[in-house]
Parts: sequence; C-alpha cells; structure tokens
Amino acid sequence: MPDEKKENGISRREFLTKGALGSFFVAMGGATAGGFALPKPTVSPGPSRRYKLGAPDEFPVGTAVKMDKENLFLFRDDEGYYAITAVCTHLGCIITKVDDGFECPCHGSRFSPDGRVVGGPAPSGLPWLEVSLTPDGYLMVDADVEIAPGTKFVAINCG
Ligand code: FES
Repeated sequence: MPDEKKENGISRREFLTKGALGSFFVAMGGATAGGFALPKPTVSPGPSRRYKLGAPDEFPVGTAVKMDKENLFLFRDDEGYYAITAVCTHLGCIITKVDDGFECPCHGSRFSPDGRVVGGPAPSGLPWLEVSLTPDGYLMVDADVEIAPGTKFVAINCG
C-alpha cells in the first residue's frame, strides 16, 4: 500500500476516521439527551381538583347541595355521603338539579337522581366522585377520581 500523503501532520485516513468518530459521538450525545427528555411530561399538571368541603356534621341526612365553585353536588342520605359532578357529559355545561334528577340548560340532556342519562344528547351518565375524609376530619371530594355509581362514603362518628 503506498504511503499516504500527509498534510499538516495528519493523513486523509486519520482525518476521515476522526471525523466519523466525532460525528458518531455527537449523534449519540443527542440521542441520549433526547432519551432523558422523553419520560418528562410535556405539559405541566393542572391544579388539584381535591376539594375540602367542610366538617361531616355540616351535611346532615337529607343534604342535597350544589357546590358552585367545585361544580359538583354533594348528597347525604341514610347510607352515607356521595358526590356527583355538575358538569354535563355532552359538552360540559353546568347542570341544574330538578325534582326528578338533573337537567342541562344547554341542549336539554336529562339525568336521573343517580346520574343516569334519561334524555338528550349526553353520551354517558354523570360521574360519581370519590368522597373521603382529610386527616384533620373534613369531607373531601376528589373530582379527578370517579367511583362506581351507588358507592357512598360512611364517615364513622359523624352526626
Ligand atoms: S352540554 Fe349538556 S346537553 Fe349539551
């Protein structure tokens, strides 16, 4: 093999080898940095939708109250507490409570007292939301946690 011509003390072969290795490491560095970025969420989580509603004895048996700020209804009957969203499952309007359940003012969806669709365009019933007690003894509803309709929360030793 003939001697390679060297310019500035480096042969063409050495120059191409170093260039290829440099490109390889730059590409691997970029891929590694991209890999670390993947597990991170690209959007920030929204604010918590856990609502501290008050002491359990503030809601006696027979309570059926709309919590306007939280967009939910809180009920208490003989079996316990339960919360149903006030957000219509059609396009998100805020429903109102009527004698025989709930009604949406926007397109007329109607729901039974336990949230089942009984009329209108709503594609599904009103979600029931998780009710629990905070460590300091207040009722809390988590609007991000849906539970099976009919599930009621029993707070021990509450009025
Ligand atoms: S948003 Fe409630 S019926 Fe359309």
